[in-house]
Amino acid sequence: MASPLPASVPATHPAVAIIAPRQPLQLTTLPTVPPSPSEALVHVTWTASSPLELHRADGGLLLGSNPPFLMASTIGGTILALGTPAAATNPRLRVGDTVFGYVSEASHREAAAQPYATVPLNKLGKLPPNLALPAAVTVPTNLVSALHTLTADLGLSLPWPVPANQRGGDAPILVWGAASSVGLYMLQVLRHWGYGHVLAVASGKHHAELAALGARACFDYRRPGGVVEEITGYVDGLEARAGGARLPFIVDCIGSRDGSLRPLSRIAGRGSKVAVMLPVINVRAGKDRMPEYEMDVSKVLPGGWKDGVELIGVRTHSYAKNEFFRDHLLPEIVPALLEQGVVQPNKQRIVEGSTLLERAQNALDLLRDQVPSGEKLVWRVADEN
Ligand SMILES: NC(=O)c1ccc[n+]([C@@H]2O[C@H](COP(=O)([O-])OP(=O)(O)OC[C@H]3O[C@@H](n4cnc5c(N)ncnc54)[C@H](OP(=O)(O)O)[C@@H]3O)[C@@H](O)[C@H]2O)c1
Repeated sequence: MASPLPASVPATHPAVAIIAPRQPLQLTTLPTVPPSPSEALVHVTWTASSPLELHRADGGLLLGSNPPFLMASTIGGTILALGTPAAATNPRLRVGDTVFGYVSEASHREAAAQPYATVPLNKLGKLPPNLALPAAVTVPTNLVSALHTLTADLGLSLPWPVPANQRGGDAPILVWGAASSVGLYMLQVLRHWGYGHVLAVASGKHHAELAALGARACFDYRRPGGVVEEITGYVDGLEARAGGARLPFIVDCIGSRDGSLRPLSRIAGRGSKVAVMLPVINVRAGKDRMPEYEMDVSKVLPGGWKDGVELIGVRTHSYAKNEFFRDHLLPEIVPALLEQGVVQPNKQRIVEGSTLLERAQNALDLLRDQVPSGEKLVWRVADEN
């Protein structure tokens, strides 16, 4: 049975909604949902923007069948109430705890761009003492994405707890878009689990930071003339591994048909697994340009890949198919990696605005203008603490 709402909590509240593609965001009014035994009612104070929100708001991607469509999959706030009797799914959490997590924006209960959200306990973790909430909300979505991609899509082993003698091995792993939010978490995860041969592709201005995060070699994709020959030259100098692959693992953290997939189609060889963050962006959103996306990676550049290359489209939303991750990732693993200093949050750019709607719209506009570079947009949700 659901618990009653605390007296201080309104029965309804505003939420930021996408009304139709390329229309200004609007506020909609939703009921505040009392938590059931496996849920917490969260007073949401911070969220972070993800490019998926731009793909949805401008391109109508994955809008689902439950309009209005809400915004924001990263949540940060305070627990106001727990369902009773409290479930055993996350016994670490208490009323009053500051929490952060990864929620489904497709769910009206959970989406983060509303001041009151009702969230399954296994999607929340307690804020570590060494972190402020605006920093913490940069983490959940894309750290989960990194952990999910490396295990479910590339088949790499990331045991938890991490054994003292953990060593991931020396197989080369190319991370294209290593300075993106996903890419930065990818590198930190690979370093922690002892994968020692990481190749990073990013703007030159990020190379020192990426080397400090463990990249063995860095390549500048903005170099005039492109970066493909430099990378293939490096890869040709590597020993072929079992199955003939010199470069067995590639993660495309960008998913741009022309900006990442096309060059990667010249780099990947027989035996390469290429995990691509969906959607593939065929045409990028612009002020006067309708974006075009593709969710089936095999339809992009048909005939453009060498025989024996395996293409995989990444869908982080399905991470909970791994039951261990479903129960432990957000309640335990993500907070522990932050508390231990293994993972540093992305740099934050705080998006200002005098109302919730204005902050959400300003963040969306910054995404459309491709402003974030090595940083994550974060903004306040509830006006008051
Ligand atoms: N399907 C999934 O499960 C999933 C999960 C997470 C993210 N995604 C998608 O993955 C993409 C990245 O997300 P994000 O949050 O990490 O984005 P982000 O941090 O906002 O990406 C910005 C970064 O992208 C880099 N970049 C742009 N074009 C590039 C190119 N052609 N080559 C290399 N780097 C390039 C820029 O790097 P420089 O500063 O070096 O220029 C910039 O720092 C988005 O489309 C998102 O929707 C999908």
